Amino acid sequence: MIPESFKNDLLNRVDIVDLIERHVRLKKAGANFVACCPFHNEKTPSFTVSPSKQFYHCFGCGAHGNAISFVMEYSGLGYIEAVKDLAESVGMKLPEFERRAGGGAPIAGDEGPDLYDIMKRAADFYREQLKASPAAVEYLKGRGLTGKVAARFGIGYAPPGWQNLQPVFPDYADKALKDCGLVIDGEGGRRYDRFRDRIVFPILNQRGSVIGFGGRVLGEGEPKYLNSPETPLFEKGRELYGLPQARTAIREAGRVVVVEGYMDVVALSQHGIEYAVATLGTATSATHVQKLFRQTDEIVFCFDGDAAGLRAAWHALEVSLPVLADHKAVKFLFLPAEDDPDSYVRARGREAFERLLHEARPLSEFFLAELRGRVDVTTPEGRSRLIHEAKPLLKRVAAPALQLQLLKQVAQASDMTQEDAARLTEIRSAGPARSAYAAPARGPDRGMLALDHRLERELIICILAHPPLAREVPAEIVDDGHPEGRALAALIGFEGIEGLTHAVILEAMRDSEHEALLNRVDGELLERRMEMNVARTEFNAAITALRMRNPNPRIRELEEKDARGRLIGQGLTGQESEEYRQLKAEEAALKQHRMPPSRMV
Ligand code: UTP
Ligand code: MN
Repeated sequence: MIPESFKNDLLNRVDIVDLIERHVRLKKAGANFVACCPFHNEKTPSFTVSPSKQFYHCFGCGAHGNAISFVMEYSGLGYIEAVKDLAESVGMKLPEFERRAGGGAPIAGDEGPDLYDIMKRAADFYREQLKASPAAVEYLKGRGLTGKVAARFGIGYAPPGWQNLQPVFPDYADKALKDCGLVIDGEGGRRYDRFRDRIVFPILNQRGSVIGFGGRVLGEGEPKYLNSPETPLFEKGRELYGLPQARTAIREAGRVVVVEGYMDVVALSQHGIEYAVATLGTATSATHVQKLFRQTDEIVFCFDGDAAGLRAAWHALEVSLPVLADHKAVKFLFLPAEDDPDSYVRARGREAFERLLHEARPLSEFFLAELRGRVDVTTPEGRSRLIHEAKPLLKRVAAPALQLQLLKQVAQASDMTQEDAARLTEIRSAGPARSAYAAPARGPDRGMLALDHRLERELIICILAHPPLAREVPAEIVDDGHPEGRALAALIGFEGIEGLTHAVILEAMRDSEHEALLNRVDGELLERRMEMNVARTEFNAAITALRMRNPNPRIRELEEKDARGRLIGQGLTGQESEEYRQLKAEEAALKQHRMPPSRMV
């Protein structure tokens, strides 16, 4: 969407310390700056900004990223807006670009019309129209809403008729109206309003600007809700309906409730529960969860008690696992099958609903119940399968204490010791810390070590400390059969980029499977204060250790050929024998090499 080169230039031009200092008081601490984290409540500073690497990291809540991430999280902007804001702050202009390949609409540059302004004018118009439509007002009253709550959510009404927006926008043919998703170009080029004869719910971004609409039919009809399409302003998978309105209440209540519908949010607010938000007819995403954890430590997902609700809840659980921290909690509330939050709170009131919230099931309980439901725990085979099912999920849990708790439960349910369960699920057990370079040779340790990808991690840390090192990783030591290996492979993929910096790497990895890993690795990087020369030493040591662990496959190949040769009378050629001798000599030299004892991790 936005050219890589532009983003890289931008990241090289802004100074993250300057940027963050405009909003947060930073204190110098060694090579870095620290502050109380702007993304969660704390009394002692655990938010760190690295000027040399141009990223921030909070050891408390896990907030993490480059300058673009900071603008997104702090100001609640979408990605494109954040890039634009940041670019303007350093006098760069976002080039016109295609949103999607082919047919996409170029985003309005400085000369173009302001899409936010267009959306605001449409919302104002719909609000006015609601006042003039008794049928629409009756409908909302019939659903128990007062004018006050309708105003809080800016609810409006799009009247029947095909071109009601014409008088609002005299240039009705303007391309920008289409870019906003307000109109549809029909066959024969006839343009008409997207929303007709519907109650309209404006969707706001965190800054409070209208970025989309959801439109409900007044009674029965298909589709029940019609939503804005994805536009330059509106990305469904990132946004949460009602978040700007709920923000204060979320802070006060110390929790947020995530429901499924517009009407659920509005009805809960009508009954005094103002800390609810809704996903926009899409599955819960990790971005949603992250966004909410920036506001509070507890998320209660509230789903219908039917099969679809259960599936949606399980999906929410899966996306939460990598973003959970040990001081954060995710809970699940399943309503009786016939209810949704709207009908429940209207029938039984605020206190009854809040009682349900207090009894919501912790993630750990839902996790185990679901897994147990998938197998027959009365048989050894079923219990083995439980482990098998749990493994990929446990591996995704980023919060160490939670991971251990879940592991314990799984071990109990499958009638195994915690050690066995840890080994089978490839979770590092909470045994004594070990050196990254511990000899891999002995006994049962071997399996654990092979699965514990510390060396790859170490290489990743070194590359993040000094990105040019990416060029020096020998391809044959990379094993992409595990997350650390894949992240390493991705980093090596950057070797051609000129002026590769830490911030650019983070940018390229945004929304990739490597994000959570990089976040953790960056935390370690800060704690160890690894500077460039140290990075190089550590890097060489890790490469050597990895080579030792994974012997050169060429040696094996030559040995096999030699063995075969003895049987059929056709051994290694002279050249191959020489190569073999050399490789073995190198290997022996590697084994002689003493590892520096300094890196006990
Ligand atoms: P629901 O069908 O549960 O709607 O869909 P609701 O919010 O309870 O609506 P009411 O009470 O009948 O008015 C939940 C959410 O799924 C999306 C909307 O975001 C809705 O709020 N949805 C649903 C659509 O986008 N389109 C549809 O046709 C239906
Ligand atoms: Mn409903």
